[in-house]
Amino acid sequence: MRTIHGKTIIITGASSGFGEATALACAAAGANVSLVARRKAELERVARLARQAGGRALVCPADVSDDGQILAAVDRTRAEFGAIDVLFNNAGTNMSARSIADTTPEQWRWLMDVNLTSAFVFTRAVLDEMKTRGEGLIINLASQAGVRPSLLAGVSYSASKLGMDALTRVTNEEGNPHGVRACLFNPGLGNTPIIENRGTPFSHEQRANMIQSEDIAATVVFLCSLPPRVNIDLISMLPTQK
Ligand SMILES: NC(=O)c1ccc[n+]([C@@H]2O[C@H](COP(=O)([O-])OP(=O)(O)OC[C@H]3O[C@@H](n4cnc5c(N)ncnc54)[C@H](OP(=O)(O)O)[C@@H]3O)[C@@H](O)[C@H]2O)c1
Repeated sequence: MRTIHGKTIIITGASSGFGEATALACAAAGANVSLVARRKAELERVARLARQAGGRALVCPADVSDDGQILAAVDRTRAEFGAIDVLFNNAGTNMSARSIADTTPEQWRWLMDVNLTSAFVFTRAVLDEMKTRGEGLIINLASQAGVRPSLLAGVSYSASKLGMDALTRVTNEEGNPHGVRACLFNPGLGNTPIIENRGTPFSHEQRANMIQSEDIAATVVFLCSLPPRVNIDLISMLPTQK
């Protein structure tokens, strides 16, 4: 296993849930973490914890539905830490409209921008540099909703997560000959703030049986620690208790 000490990792959606836990786990392993999300105060809180854990941390407030803000975050990361070793495309959201009938084209486009186009724009911003260096890892956090699209998850959310599959496959096709690897990471239900938007609240016991943020974080640290000859292109993570 390789150490991730000194590696530079961009983590989108780092202000809570999976992204926050991953930032702290990477920082504890000595990585430089670049933290991207909209809520600056939350990013600053995570950055303080990341520095206490032993890593260097940079706060990059950005709305990932805005290409310009994405490119600015990548530029700031390079200026602070140098070349980017790992990109964790994790930012994502959902909305109350789930059916085709209830979803407006504007809502569909917005969710695609946040959940899918952002990952494409981030990938495009780092891929050339990774190919030139002959190494790089891109982890696309999608969902079981992309494997089994449903009304429960919603038409826009399911389509955006299924799109991450195509983005990951093409990233591998384009990147593998140059040493760049991409992983599609599909978790099932996780105990994070995003599930508070579901209609019925979950009990304490139900939440305890879900995937926890630290499970995602440990998996990302593991992926980052593998030698460049190994490409884990797909991870399916399910709660044991359904
Ligand atoms: N929890 C689950 O059950 C589950 C299952 C499968 C997949 N996922 C996926 O896991 C990823 C992380 O979600 P989570 O479960 O950790 O929920 P979460 O705690 O709500 O985290 C979502 C993160 O995305 C960021 N984000 C949302 N919209 C953004 C925007 N426009 N620009 C920048 N950042 C934005 C949020 O930050 P700000 O609000 O500060 O911008 C937050 O940091 C998402 O892609 C989600 O779809 C979750």
